[in-house]
Amino acid sequence: MNNLAAILVKTYPKKVKLEDGTAIYLRPLLKDDEQAFLAYFRSLAPEERVDLKEEVTDPKVIENWMETLDYDLMLPLVALHEDRIVGAASLRFSLSAWTRHQGQVNLSTDPRYRAKGLGTLLLLSLEEIAAALGLEQLTAEVPQELTKAFYLFEKLGFQKAAVLPGFVMDAAGRESDIVLMIKSLMPDPGNLAQAQGN
Ligand SMILES: CC(C)(COP(=O)(O)OP(=O)(O)OC[C@H]1O[C@@H](n2cnc3c(N)ncnc32)[C@H](O)[C@@H]1OP(=O)(O)O)[C@@H](O)C(=O)NCCC(=O)NCCS
Repeated sequence: MNNLAAILVKTYPKKVKLEDGTAIYLRPLLKDDEQAFLAYFRSLAPEERVDLKEEVTDPKVIENWMETLDYDLMLPLVALHEDRIVGAASLRFSLSAWTRHQGQVNLSTDPRYRAKGLGTLLLLSLEEIAAALGLEQLTAEVPQELTKAFYLFEKLGFQKAAVLPGFVMDAAGRESDIVLMIKSLMPDPGNLAQAQGN
C-alpha cells in the first residue's frame, strides 16, 4: 500500500461535528457519488463555481471526473450529512518536477451549512494529508470576488502571493481575477529553535 492509501484507510470515514452539533462524515469521493456530487454543485451559486474551472453542473463533466478519478493525481474529500454531499474539497498533486513539493487545494460548502466550521474542517483535513505525505506548500487559486474564502484561508495561515488578472472566464464569458494564496507546511525555524531550547 502506498502512503496515501495507508493514510486514507487509517483516517476515513471520519465523523466530525459542526459548531451547531450536526454530525457529518468526511471521506474520499467514490464513483457511486456521481448523482449526489452533481446535486451538490447545483446547490452553489454560479459565481462560487468559477474556481472549479469547469461547468460542474453539466452531468457529462461530472461523469468524466468520475471515470478519471485517481487519488494519486487529485484527492477529493466530501462531507456528508444524511447521505447528501454538503461540502467538497480537493488536493491536487503536482505532476511537474519543480512543483512536486506543492499541493493545490480547492473547497466549497453547501450554503445551508456555512459558518458552522465545515470549511475549516475540510481544509484542515486536506492539510493533515498533505503534511503526512511530506508536501511543503499548499496553494489555492481564489477568485477575487469570493471574499469569505480569503477570511478562511488567511485564518488558516495562507498568504496572498499574487493576483492574476482576468485569469479565468466563466460559461457566460465573464472574466475573474485570481488570487494565488500559499501556505508553507514547513516548521517555522523560530518555533523549532524554541522547542529545542536554543
Ligand atoms: C469559503 C467557504 C468554503 C467557507 O465555508 P464555511 O463552511 O462557511 O467555513 P467555516 O464555517 O469554517 O467558516 C470560516 C470562517 O468564515 C466565517 N463565515 C463563513 N460564512 C460566513 C457568513 N455567511 N457570515 C459570517 N461569517 C461567515 C465563519 O464564521 C468562520 O470564521 P470564524 O472561524 O472566525 O468563526 C464557503 O463560504 C464557500 O463554499 N464559498 C464559495 C466557494 C469558495 O469561495 N471557495 C473557495 C475557493 S478555493
